[in-house]
Amino acid sequence: MSSAKRYMITAALPYANGLKHIGHLAGAYLPADIFVRYLKAQGKDVVFVCGSDEHGTAIPIQAKKEGTTPQAIIDKYHPIIKQNFEDLSIQFDIYHRTSSPLHHKTAQEFFTKLNDNGDLEIKESEQFYDEEAQTFLADRYIKGTCPNCGFDGAYGDQCEKCGTSLSPEMLINPVSTLSGKAPVKRLTKHWYLPLDRHEEWLRKWILEDHKNDWKTNVLGQCKSWLDGGLQPRAVTRDLDWGIRVPIAGAESKVLYVWFDAPIGYISATKQFCLDNNLDYNVLWGDKDTKLIHFIGKDNIVFHCIIFPVMLKLHGNILPDNVPANEFVNLEGDKMSTSRNWKLEMQDYIDDFIKKENGGPQMADVLRYYLTTILPENKDSEFTWKGFQDANNSELVSIFGNFVNRSFVLMHKLCNGKVPPLHAALLDEKDETLIADIENTKIAIEKNLENYKFRDALFEVIDLARKGNKYMQEKEPWIVAKTLEENPQNQQLIDNCLHLCLQLCANLAIFINPFLPNTARKLCRMMKVVDKMLEWKNGGRIKLLSVGYSLNPPELLFRKIEDEEISYQIEKLKAGLVKADAASVSIEAKPEVANRKAQIQFDDFAKIDLRVGTIIEAEKIPKADKLLKLQIDMGDEVRTICSGIAMHFSPEEIVGKQVTVVANLAPRKMRGIESNGMILMAENTEGKLVFVNPDNKVENGSGVS
Ligand code: 2FM
Ligand code: ZN
Repeated sequence: MSSAKRYMITAALPYANGLKHIGHLAGAYLPADIFVRYLKAQGKDVVFVCGSDEHGTAIPIQAKKEGTTPQAIIDKYHPIIKQNFEDLSIQFDIYHRTSSPLHHKTAQEFFTKLNDNGDLEIKESEQFYDEEAQTFLADRYIKGTCPNCGFDGAYGDQCEKCGTSLSPEMLINPVSTLSGKAPVKRLTKHWYLPLDRHEEWLRKWILEDHKNDWKTNVLGQCKSWLDGGLQPRAVTRDLDWGIRVPIAGAESKVLYVWFDAPIGYISATKQFCLDNNLDYNVLWGDKDTKLIHFIGKDNIVFHCIIFPVMLKLHGNILPDNVPANEFVNLEGDKMSTSRNWKLEMQDYIDDFIKKENGGPQMADVLRYYLTTILPENKDSEFTWKGFQDANNSELVSIFGNFVNRSFVLMHKLCNGKVPPLHAALLDEKDETLIADIENTKIAIEKNLENYKFRDALFEVIDLARKGNKYMQEKEPWIVAKTLEENPQNQQLIDNCLHLCLQLCANLAIFINPFLPNTARKLCRMMKVVDKMLEWKNGGRIKLLSVGYSLNPPELLFRKIEDEEISYQIEKLKAGLVKADAASVSIEAKPEVANRKAQIQFDDFAKIDLRVGTIIEAEKIPKADKLLKLQIDMGDEVRTICSGIAMHFSPEEIVGKQVTVVANLAPRKMRGIESNGMILMAENTEGKLVFVNPDNKVENGSGVS
């Protein structure tokens, strides 16, 4: 990476539709943060932007799931995700929102400029339309049978069972998820970005100009898109959640989320520049700015093909690199939100950072382990055992141990002060250690500048390992025993601990981009200001002045116990069971869960079903789910306790007729005798509904 005047760093804007997991963290945010901290330590001019992606169908779909509005969803998740990043020391210069007026304006102006310049095409095509809901249907709003595996809950863009990418036309028996009805085809007009016009320069720019500096996984995906031939891509949608298309007559249309989201990087920069009195045009328009997008592999085509075309047409700079990562699996399986097989940032924060024995150091522990397993070239694997080992065997036993021994021995053998260095006495081992410090700095730089974060971190921990080995070979505690006989041996002790302490200072500088809290804690122990962490100070052994007194050591990392790990594994498995149960009751119930073993007519005939009217209903104290009902059965009034309190208020059901299992043996519930049971149906969303007789019938009428 040649150096640049300034850097514009972006990390994929996460959808504000739910909590984000550590796979997201490892994919984009952690490597971006390490890179930015490294550049800033070098004194480079850097702006690091991110924010919430608040449009697209992901948001209204989540709103429907949570029974609320899209606005409420983004207002709920935006601040949580922002705080999660802060708790994990991911330090953006700005964490913006695509729902902000500034972003809407920026995206609309962007679209208008391209449209006015003739860089977009308008086409009419037939799209699925829900006549009942009176709306065109985005791919995610259409469900049907997968043509590939036969799964009947496949979406219009993908079958989540077999993973096949689909278009709504490919679904067998498509239905609208809004009305449950079969959609019809209707003609509609959309604006397209004609990617086919740009194939030639894209091919040269990506596959020739960047063939040596872009990662092979990124080049591979781009090549296969280019080889497949680029097609015009619609940049508008018939939806009501999003940024309005700024054209008269197109008021019912919004910009496609993948058109507006990356423009979010620009509007976030604009806001940052407004707040800090800077010129955003320089950051997005000057060729001396290096633009780097950190993303996960599912975003490659958007950042390497579509957005660059938009940027070029709009007159902006193109990315210098797009170091996309692959995915992180969890305990042998793909991370999945729907199956609840994941570790959310929030969970880690609650369990490790906010606890008494946690704190910001525990953010560093996650950052450490995740960096060692970053999926830089292929998918990787997070295991709780691996997390524990990385902490206990590397951070505690190597890094923490070296720092601790250096400080303890300095206090014991050198009066708590940095001892002098006696140059004439330096031996080969000392010289090797000094060279190791210098070489490590160069190796970290080379790796970080090539986006090899794992290797860069390995260099740091390896230097600490070398420090331990050096100290073990020098054995200053043994030399101390010879002092009575040979007082001049104090000089050997001085040299050893002088170098060890200078190494500690270097370790603080080198670990800073990865584990910023640890670096700061080390500064406090050394009684130096954070400015010491500037990268240019690294590689030298003159950081701490001779005679300077240092603080006593503090524990940098604590041991992680087996019980903490087994608790996490249990929790993960329990979550999966819960998710499976939920998916059975919601998804598969209509076909599977209602089916019971066959019975004979005689069995059925034993059940006395009668119609009754609810004449009174009340809540039962301390029983969230139960209502106590009085039911007029014609010849008597029955008390029945029913588990419907989560679905209905007492007031709304009084007067309703229900079918009652009248001869069910009495049962005591919360101290109340319940005489029978009422029948209800459960719809596909898991909500209970009444199955009333079509016509009102007399109470007590039999049902058969
Ligand atoms: O995949 C995602 O989570 C998208 N919200 C990423 C958008 S990146 C950028 F374009 F904003
Ligand atoms: Zn399928």
